[in-house]
Amino acid sequence: MPTIKFVNEKKSVEVEQGVNLRKAARKNGVEVYEGVHKVLHCPGLGLCNSCMICIKSGHENVQKQGLWEKIGMYLNPLGFFKRIGREEDMRLSCQTTVTGDVEVETHPSMNWHGEKFWG
Ligand code: FES
Repeated sequence: MPTIKFVNEKKSVEVEQGVNLRKAARKNGVEVYEGVHKVLHCPGLGLCNSCMICIKSGHENVQKQGLWEKIGMYLNPLGFFKRIGREEDMRLSCQTTVTGDVEVETHPSMNWHGEKFWG
């Protein structure tokens, strides 16, 4: 069974293969939303961009980003700026399926000083 390690929460959970990352987090008491989005968010449809997480390792163990997820990230300014320089790492947890071990950072911050941000 795959293990999801939530880095900020220092919590590892075993999940079924093919589980939705957002559902697995919430089921195990890990909050993927911040601030007002704890109440105001879409029901996991990839519309609000508020469930964004950062894959720290195990990229090969999540399915690739779909077109819907990519479009949503680019249309939302928050998602757009958070993704710069780490396009492959930043994912919507509601659109991410886990197939193996991964390390996940919830509530990733803006990458204002990342090596690729200004370059
Ligand atoms: S819950 Fe709205 S985009 Fe994931």
